[in-house]
Amino acid sequence: MLVGGFGTRLRPLTITTPKPMLPIVNIPLLELELLHLKQYGVDEVILSSGYLPDVFDEYFGDGSRLGMKLIHVTEDEPLGTCGAVKNVERFLGDDTVIVCNGDILTDLDIAALFSYHMEKKATVTITLTPVEDPTAYGLVPLHPDGRIKEFLEKPSWDQVVTNLINAGTYVIDPKVFQQVPPNQNYSFERELFPSLLEQGVPMYGFPSDCYWLDLGTPAKYLKAHHDIMERKIKIPLKGKEIFEMVFAGDDVVIDETARINPPCALGDRVRIGPRASVGSLCCLGDDVVVEAGASIEGSVILDGANIGEDCVIEGSIVGKNTKLGKRVHVAEASVLGDNIVAEEDNEFRHGVRIWPSTRIEAGKIRFYRTD
Ligand code: GDD
Ligand code: MG
Repeated sequence: MLVGGFGTRLRPLTITTPKPMLPIVNIPLLELELLHLKQYGVDEVILSSGYLPDVFDEYFGDGSRLGMKLIHVTEDEPLGTCGAVKNVERFLGDDTVIVCNGDILTDLDIAALFSYHMEKKATVTITLTPVEDPTAYGLVPLHPDGRIKEFLEKPSWDQVVTNLINAGTYVIDPKVFQQVPPNQNYSFERELFPSLLEQGVPMYGFPSDCYWLDLGTPAKYLKAHHDIMERKIKIPLKGKEIFEMVFAGDDVVIDETARINPPCALGDRVRIGPRASVGSLCCLGDDVVVEAGASIEGSVILDGANIGEDCVIEGSIVGKNTKLGKRVHVAEASVLGDNIVAEEDNEFRHGVRIWPSTRIEAGKIRFYRTD
């Protein structure tokens, strides 16, 4: 499991939390990924990290809580996607391995992928998924029999010959790692895969129509939440279903004059004050407080955040322990990092991103309309 990236496009959330540890409907993405693998009998996973490695250890330890064996190897310098696997080669043995990008939410049928790999007698099988804009991904055109034709990593539009992209889950015969240079930055997508293809090694694409989303950007982070709450991917929701499609953790207190519009997910000890409105498509983490008259829609509010009186939060993300004063407005995929204090009457729009631990005095930020 490759979890060493910096998650740059998801800053400021990833300043304090590595991308795979960001909660998706109150469960870290990596936990969802591990549980997904476990369903298919995977019981041993090597985590390859680099950025903020301690966060993984603190949460997962040796994996026993999940009933899995986790081996955590961390890099001093990023070794690239393939260099990272070379770096853990000593743990691999001769068995076929599954390599997963750690920033993907998917319900991929791992058993079908594995059978396909065996049936084709492939050395490498790459899962493929259709996307609308392939230019942000690795394009993988196939021959009619499923063999891979070429690799076009982050192609320009004039190179786009298919909508099938590398979905970031590979089945690999570990003997190919013998030819990877050790202790050096090396990429699957730009180096090992094209080189194996040139050598005539059997490499196949496995097109899948499963649910697939990479957690690259704030918009996709929100989309993951919305899709889960709309049951486009069946991820178990934490807590009890207190009304239809409203899930709540333990000790949640909702004022009787507040409105909760489904679907919604509320963590443990959430408090929602008088006349507040939450939902639809909202996820509130543990210990979130929503004060009187505040309104939250289509948003993710992380653990311990405090949403002040009469705030309005629309399609946006509020980081852990961030405190908003009265009438703060957060809209249009804006992202407030962790531990921010924004005093009353501030406004955040147009996807602005505020760095963790910033303090913003009352009424400092306003967006004026010119229309
Ligand atoms: N250990 C380690 N070391 N992990 C790394 C390193 C590294 O140096 N670099 C990246 N990773 C991890 C990231 O944490 C992520 O989980 C995964 O490897 C892929 O890296 P990204 O940086 O997210 O790559 P990408 O999204 O631009 O492109 C990749 O994923 C696409 C699908 O989402 C490529 O595999 C594309 O071909 C693919 O289409
Ligand atoms: Mg990625």
